Amino acid sequence: MKEELKLASFSESKLLKLLMEFIPDQIYFKDIRHRFILLNKPTADNLGTTIENAIGKTDMDFFPEDLARQYFEDEEQIMKTGKPIIAKIEKTGAKKQNLWNFTTKAPIFDGDRVIGLMGLNRDITDLIRAENNLKKVKAELERSNADLEQFAYVASHDLQAPLRKIESFGEKLVSMCGDSIEGKSADYLGRMIKAANNMRELITGLLSLSRLNNRVERESVSLVEVLDTVKKYLEIPIKQSGVKFDIKNLETIEGNKLQMVQLFQNLIDNSIKFRKQDEPLVIGISSEITGNKCRIIIEDNGIGFKQEESENIFLIFKRIYPSETYPGTGLGLSICRKIAQNHGGDITAQSREGKGTRFIINIKAAHEQE
Ligand SMILES: Nc1ncnc2c1ncn2[C@@H]1O[C@H](COP(=O)(O)OP(=O)(O)O)[C@@H](O)[C@H]1O
Ligand SMILES: [Mg+2]
Repeated sequence: MKEELKLASFSESKLLKLLMEFIPDQIYFKDIRHRFILLNKPTADNLGTTIENAIGKTDMDFFPEDLARQYFEDEEQIMKTGKPIIAKIEKTGAKKQNLWNFTTKAPIFDGDRVIGLMGLNRDITDLIRAENNLKKVKAELERSNADLEQFAYVASHDLQAPLRKIESFGEKLVSMCGDSIEGKSADYLGRMIKAANNMRELITGLLSLSRLNNRVERESVSLVEVLDTVKKYLEIPIKQSGVKFDIKNLETIEGNKLQMVQLFQNLIDNSIKFRKQDEPLVIGISSEITGNKCRIIIEDNGIGFKQEESENIFLIFKRIYPSETYPGTGLGLSICRKIAQNHGGDITAQSREGKGTRFIINIKAAHEQE
């Protein structure tokens, strides 16, 4: 006899026996009174006994009462209605606690009479535990993020009140004493007020950084419009620096317009600030969408920096050049990075001293629903 024909002539009960022996899932058959008639080893393991010992017994003999009762009720319903229960996730465990099964039970008919049922359970304990762990970690992460945001917000918000006092008393002192303060005292007072102003800028920056979260509205954002808005905001420095823009292909993406404006504004503002004095400034801006990714490049021919600084510059308050020559807070690029991350991506920099700087922003072109 040909091999294929031989296999086809095997009785189904022989094949079923084979299946029950090797399948890692629990397979069992019960009679109308919920007694095990036939079961495989995984089923016996789940009952915490042997196959021989389980035959003729019911769940009541092995499981804690609450589990056994639940199974009993489900099975009663199957045998009464003739309808199966498919893909139910349920607790199990006779000896060990907190195991999980993925269970399907179906009635066995003799004509139109139900005479028992068959069950197929898969142990999904590992899956459920992994999922629960993931949920826990996610909740913790969300909470610590929210804490951090709240902390930064409260800290910067509450720091403003005492600062306002330092500023206003300083100014009062200047206007009250005016000319009578001179020499070193005037210098100290002037520096004090300047330092307070400086701190105000830092706090305002920190506050806007902490307010940047990714739970913002997404809309269709044309980068052409973003650039136009930024040009309006930076009208004076743009005029004073005589910057030329070299624009290639500005795409439309799905994002938050306000944040995209902030991103462009910070980068263009930097290019203007860190320009060379002896060479006309050119800022190149281009963008490209491939699939769901949008890459935006903003580059200049300014003073640049050492490539080894290219990650440091994104740190909060990190600045490379002295603030006397190049004023600033060192927060602009931290804000840019947060915005890029909020848009499902990141921002990186390439630069060489004296050779200009290129910022590369990779973000999602469209926002995916979570
Ligand atoms: N276009 C650029 N050319 C040269 N250096 C830059 C440029 N953009 C940023 N940097 C460097 O990165 C630092 C951080 O930038 P940023 O966070 O915007 O702070 P700030 O502008 O207040 O100095 C800057 O102080 C400067 O040293
Ligand atoms: Mg800046």
